[in-house]
Amino acid sequence: MTADSSASDPVFPVPERLLNGKPTPFVSSFEEYKKLWEESVQDPTSFFGKLGRETLTWSKPFETVMSGSLLEGDVAWFLEGELNACYNCVDRHALAQPNKVAIIHEGDEPGNVRKITYSELLREVCRLANVFTSLDVRKGDTVAIYMPMVPETVMAMLACARIGAVHSVVFAGFSSDSLRDRINDCGARLVLTADEGRRGGKNIATKRIVDEALKGSPSVDHVLVLRRTGSEVPWADGRDLWWHDEIEKTRPYCPPTNVNAEDPLFLLYTSGSTGTPKGVMHTTAGYLLGAALTLKYIFDYHENDVYACMADVGWITGHTYLLYGPLMNGATTVVFESTPTYPTPSRFWDLIQTHKVTQFYTAPTAIRALRRLGDKWLEGYDLSTLRVIGSVGEPINPEAWHWYNEKVGRNVCAVVDTYWQTETGSIVVSPLPGAISTKPGSATFPFFGIKPAVLDPQSGKELEGNDVTGVLAISQPWPSMARTVYKNHNRYLDTYLKPYKGYYFTGDGATRDKDGYIWIRGRVDDVINVSGHRLSTAEIESALILHPAVAEAAVVGGNDELTGQCIHAYCTLKPNVEDSEGLEKELSLQVRKVIGPFATPKRIYVVPDLPKTRSGKIMRRILRKIVNNEQDQLGDTSTLAEPA
Ligand code: WTA
Repeated sequence: MTADSSASDPVFPVPERLLNGKPTPFVSSFEEYKKLWEESVQDPTSFFGKLGRETLTWSKPFETVMSGSLLEGDVAWFLEGELNACYNCVDRHALAQPNKVAIIHEGDEPGNVRKITYSELLREVCRLANVFTSLDVRKGDTVAIYMPMVPETVMAMLACARIGAVHSVVFAGFSSDSLRDRINDCGARLVLTADEGRRGGKNIATKRIVDEALKGSPSVDHVLVLRRTGSEVPWADGRDLWWHDEIEKTRPYCPPTNVNAEDPLFLLYTSGSTGTPKGVMHTTAGYLLGAALTLKYIFDYHENDVYACMADVGWITGHTYLLYGPLMNGATTVVFESTPTYPTPSRFWDLIQTHKVTQFYTAPTAIRALRRLGDKWLEGYDLSTLRVIGSVGEPINPEAWHWYNEKVGRNVCAVVDTYWQTETGSIVVSPLPGAISTKPGSATFPFFGIKPAVLDPQSGKELEGNDVTGVLAISQPWPSMARTVYKNHNRYLDTYLKPYKGYYFTGDGATRDKDGYIWIRGRVDDVINVSGHRLSTAEIESALILHPAVAEAAVVGGNDELTGQCIHAYCTLKPNVEDSEGLEKELSLQVRKVIGPFATPKRIYVVPDLPKTRSGKIMRRILRKIVNNEQDQLGDTSTLAEPA
């Protein structure tokens, strides 16, 4: 689904608006980028030591910049340093510029806008931190957050950081079963939620989903409930507390708890090749540094810019580029509660015009959907404040890239196709707006400190030079890399560090073209990327097997014009169960129930048999070819038990 790089790839030079406009980009030539990048990978200790001191405010300075290795899986940065993430994101800006707007909340209904200054943010976060403390949440405890896109969600994450608690945000599109599993894995005693969410004009029964999940989560003592819509919700006396009641009791200042650089900041669950999701753990200082630097350099963020990331805070993009990156830089960040098409497909353009947005960050799926709805929705909107427009989450096909560049960027903005993962913490491959010419569909060059390696998947040998294709790895540690999988360090080693010794393995295929540009080719493992949402085939298969009619299930990713990939599920039925008319619908509901609506299969096929090897392994490769209409390339089928 990615474009092929060939001699004919068009190259887009750095736009004039960046080169000759104001403000001047931080890095304004390829040579300058190259020099900085080389420094960063040749001498990471002095490069990041300096930036670590300049970018972060420490309560106790670090002495050692980095220790450990990818080989041992014991990487640590800024070892002796102590700091507080919330202080770095809020206090220091509240002290310097108390009246600067930190958060613009664009509510679900257009015109429903709330602005929160840094000093207000500090007070609100402090009150909430005091509530947490009063509920006996202490440093190192985990707090689960299942909330809509409102400023209180950001406040909650910061309040955790303020007292050294670890937040674990669960995307509010997950089902109660998924929420339960995540709460149980991290052992949260406090859950934060809202009575209901609002999205695209509809109310979402957030609290009810939490109630359902908690039937199976014995660790939870309290649920703090934000009143968002004011609808009646079921209530468990003693357990459930209203946010506003508790806040009222507390003082609007709470001293920050300084933590070690390597103490955990948050967990975020993500899907891998195997069934259960992993609690990816990020620590404090390295993560914050990665978030701060990538935001500044990749979006060329300058003071007075208004930065708008459309991702949900339930995903890593929301963590790093809605919250931590912007607030580390003292920026104004937009929290968007609605959808790109509510009430009309002009919603994004209206938002950019209204708030004079300078950097806009969204996913290819949204770009493709809006492109398909037609250019008329952009007509008459003033998008002239934009300087940098970004894309993340999946490969962006050249058609979508061109449309984004022409219609949204009006050919004067830098388009940054940013490649990274939950595990990398911050962007690892991307153009720098003022320095790197782009090729539509390529994420271009590595960020500072990132030394990418294209490996031969079989031998694991590094493919040196240009014009090579293989699997993408990173060959030295960088500050914002995930440090472990919660309570399962072996899984961390097995997934990322052991497949290719001495390297971090991304799970993606990649090409480095003749000019050294990196093209991400998509996952090489059993991860499907639907609209930028990461799902494992095993997770969907286990959901299907829970249905009483299903004997076996095999899930594969198909290509989809709109969502990038989509889910195709093949099921065989148990003996004595007949295929009935409503069965496919039921199976689809089953997946929604177990995982969430975003995991709904596009097609479910009830089949008499699945292609298997003689030893009984399902051959997904064959199914993948079938769903993508590549039957003529089924490859070697001789190992099949029943080739027909
Ligand atoms: C894919 C999202 C191509 C990739 C930040 C990766 C991309 C997975 C890009 C991580 C991009 C992300 N081009 N593919 N610009 N960005 N991906 O953890 O397959 O939700 O491994 O992090 O998304 O998804 P995750």
